[in-house]
Amino acid sequence: MTVHSGRHFLQIPGPTNVPDQVLRAIAAPTIDHRGPEFAALGLHVLDAIKPVFATTGPVVIYPSSGTGAWEAALVNTLSPGDRVLSFETGHFATLWQDMARGLGLHVDFVPGDWRHGADPEIVEERLAADTSRSIKAVCVVHNETSTGVTSRVADIRRAIDAAGHPALLLVDTISSLGSIDYRHDEWGVDVTVAGSQKGLMLPPGLSFNAVSAKALEASRTAALPKSFWHWKPIIEANKRGFFPYTPATNLLYGLDEALRMLDAEGLPAVYARHARHARATRAAVRAWGLEVLCADEREYSGSLTAVLMPEGHDADKVREIILERFDMSLGAGLGKLAGRVFRIGHLGHFNDLTLAGTLAGVQMGLQLAGVAIDPAGVNAALDVLRGD
Ligand SMILES: Cc1ncc(COP(=O)(O)O)c(C=O)c1O
Repeated sequence: MTVHSGRHFLQIPGPTNVPDQVLRAIAAPTIDHRGPEFAALGLHVLDAIKPVFATTGPVVIYPSSGTGAWEAALVNTLSPGDRVLSFETGHFATLWQDMARGLGLHVDFVPGDWRHGADPEIVEERLAADTSRSIKAVCVVHNETSTGVTSRVADIRRAIDAAGHPALLLVDTISSLGSIDYRHDEWGVDVTVAGSQKGLMLPPGLSFNAVSAKALEASRTAALPKSFWHWKPIIEANKRGFFPYTPATNLLYGLDEALRMLDAEGLPAVYARHARHARATRAAVRAWGLEVLCADEREYSGSLTAVLMPEGHDADKVREIILERFDMSLGAGLGKLAGRVFRIGHLGHFNDLTLAGTLAGVQMGLQLAGVAIDPAGVNAALDVLRGD
């Protein structure tokens, strides 16, 4: 294997690059998780995380990857045999509904083409038709990491209200939290699922459930089996800054620092930065003569851009060349999209020149792979970044 100098470019759509100050925070000695110093840390991060979800309610933090928080959202709110409405927006929506089926739920899975988000009109139609109110939850992946398509959660909320339906709204923000505008309380989301390794700029290992009052109420009667994921003992212990099990203390140090960084930049500025980098990336893709996978401009993702390869070219070959020559990792096509797309992550700890370098690497990789592109791509992105 080639030995590379300089920094690796980790431009997959998560895990993202961890800032040095977060790494330094994580490197502090582990402390007694039942002592007073930990309680102060726990109380602080449990409170400081709330603005990122735009909630005033409880946020449960698990020492797990995002998949655990998916399971927690389902088992705390639903009972065996409950009906759930979900949308085939891509690979992650498919995995979440697989999990729901595995847990004994009945899933109405609305088919999709992996180029669009969950359709608010279909939400309203399906819920209005459910006169017996047997659908207990609507599950939506806010930002489909496999496609770079962002579902319009505020419109989905309006659709649920227009149907006058009492279903819970469960939303996966694993690749949008801290990158794309998101409002748990204002949009009436009942459980927001998130992970540490993307917009929060932390290593993998923490996951989150932001919980509404309605979800808490549902959890009192939800009968799906649960133990580790059970919100009740966690929320109880959290009141004193503790957890009912050994928490991921050092990742919580990192979370404290990452939240400080997001607060210092300001969440509106963080969202604007991501949207601008996404715009510059799309400008590059189009100038190369390639196609962005997301088919609806209202649903462009601020976190990542999935790029369709022209017929006869393998996206994985391009990624392989870019990794070998330029030491940059790009996201692979997942599931149905394997080999057909590559994904450029532009989220987390990221700036204009990181994007310029990323796109330069992509452009050279495409050329080396023999893809007939117009080399105007990087300049088109620089025009957006320069702001003229
Ligand atoms: C949108 C989305 N949901 C769920 C997951 C699964 O999370 P994890 O791999 O942390 O378990 C991912 C992972 O990338 C994701 O992007």
